[in-house]
Amino acid sequence: MCGIIGYVGNKSAVPIILDGLKRLEYRGYDSAGIAVMNEQGFGVVKQKGRLASLEQLVNQQPIAGTIGIGHTRWATHGEPSDINSHPHLGSQNKIAIVHNGIIENYLQIKERLEQKGINFVSQTDSEVVAQLAEHYYDGGIVDTVVRTVNALEGSYALGIMCLDEPEKLIAVKKDNPLIIGVSDYGCFIASDVPAILPHTNKVYYLNDREIAVLTRSKVEFFNMDGEPIEKELEVVNWTLDSAEKGGYEHFMLKEIMEQPKILQDTIHSAIHGDNARIVESLDITKYNKIVITACGSAYNAGMVAKYVFERLCRVSVEVELASEFRYKDPIIDKNTLVILVSQSGETADTIAAMREAKRRGAVTLSIINVVGSTIAKETDYTIYTMAGPEIAVATTKAFSAQLVLLYILAIAFARKLGRISPEVEAKLLAEISAIPEKAAEILERVDMIQKYAATCIGCKSIFFIGRNIDYAISMEGSLKLKEISYIHSEAYAGGELKHGTISLIEDNTMVVAVSCCERLYEKIYSNVEQVISRGAKVLMIGSCIKASPHGKLQIIEIPRINELFSPSLSVIVLQLFAYYVAANKGLDIDKPRNLAKSVTVE
Ligand code: F6R
Repeated sequence: MCGIIGYVGNKSAVPIILDGLKRLEYRGYDSAGIAVMNEQGFGVVKQKGRLASLEQLVNQQPIAGTIGIGHTRWATHGEPSDINSHPHLGSQNKIAIVHNGIIENYLQIKERLEQKGINFVSQTDSEVVAQLAEHYYDGGIVDTVVRTVNALEGSYALGIMCLDEPEKLIAVKKDNPLIIGVSDYGCFIASDVPAILPHTNKVYYLNDREIAVLTRSKVEFFNMDGEPIEKELEVVNWTLDSAEKGGYEHFMLKEIMEQPKILQDTIHSAIHGDNARIVESLDITKYNKIVITACGSAYNAGMVAKYVFERLCRVSVEVELASEFRYKDPIIDKNTLVILVSQSGETADTIAAMREAKRRGAVTLSIINVVGSTIAKETDYTIYTMAGPEIAVATTKAFSAQLVLLYILAIAFARKLGRISPEVEAKLLAEISAIPEKAAEILERVDMIQKYAATCIGCKSIFFIGRNIDYAISMEGSLKLKEISYIHSEAYAGGELKHGTISLIEDNTMVVAVSCCERLYEKIYSNVEQVISRGAKVLMIGSCIKASPHGKLQIIEIPRINELFSPSLSVIVLQLFAYYVAANKGLDIDKPRNLAKSVTVE
């Protein structure tokens, strides 16, 4: 979704803002712009299209200043166009803003301001913020911001500059991320940490409806009564390297390759570190129901976890799409544990599901990658995936880290519920501890997967099948492929084929079959034979495959592991398969069309 960056300091703002915008590109955007403030007023350059062309435009129409704001826009209200791009200015050119979020009552505000003779130039909801702030401005920017945001309904992260207060950059947020960074040569606002990592790892996390006033050398915070408040400066342990490609062609490939290390860090933290302490403090015996809710890949992690929790804990687990959860009158109460899974911790639907769960009295536990994010802050318990910044839109390493945290959670719950003995617990944890090494073994076989993927680029449709937990991970394989390769794809439980899907199978239809559940091998293999006899080409991925390859059947073996944890290995092959199909098609893998990394609108 939209990205915001802002800087005030003693360096030239434009290069810092342009660099920050590049680091925010992965969030998804269709237009971009910059505004700087100087003695002459605002210098604004903005346009529809990629950042490379914005950079060219800035070179042709240089703007100068040591304070400025920048924005990447993912259109919601008003088509992607030069005029709808941010920053937006009030009609007297006194206030400039960048906005991430949706102003739900913008039409009412716009009408009211138009009646007062104020002219709007864009079709966006965001322009009302600039116009309203300018209309309210009475010499005090903090009071103006309080008044302005009090009139807004919806969600916002805002960067604001005011010509009458030329030293100040203002930030305020509600339901959209915004962080504040401080360095020796100035202060920053940004939608996320990677945007400012070249300058600082010292950040303040802004809470909803807190205002930050940044000057060259300090940041002051205010509440909605305009009173000063204190906030704690935190040090982020992400490094600049972790947010750069490091020689890989795409972030996605780099992030896939990082998985053994990330798995190791996450497993260590969940067995011996901070995560372990949090898991221990949660008394699972108090709850009679577990609900996991999330979106996209995080939902798929929940689907895998359902099999693990139910098998180990013998407790029924419901997995709900967060976008559906709050509209279904969920049956939850204080005896329900609701687990929210989210890489960003900022997904609007997952935030809404969390708040609905809390409203109904449920206890909430989140599994999050981004420290300081909304879900991490608002849930009763939070455990962190140790994935570092994930830049590619398609999640890989964060998904893998979510899986291992969910396994370890299930094991701890099973022990607390008396369902497994300490010996079984130790054995299961030992198997989990072996995952990073086995993941590294798979990554050594990249060439084979790459070669196979090259034969699939002409496919119109690819089906993924599996049974039991293999079906759950097939869903992730299918999502990964379709989002980055633009090839239609569906995941089916193997046994469901005969109930309809098999009619779609014809000569050379591609089917990927995951087979790690040894006890179900004969069943999935019979599905494989059924599709082959109707002309399909099949790739089997698994650890228990007894068949031999032939013209219509290729096999990729993965190391043996307890079937409950096998998704952590099969998913690596599925990620690489999706990656290489898309790479062979020459697609923009890290920023697939229409998608955004962090979906902060409903
Ligand atoms: C797919 C993908 C998305 C996210 C989903 C939830 O590769 O990345 O499906 O999993 O948008 O995002 P988070 O985990 O940030 O809540």
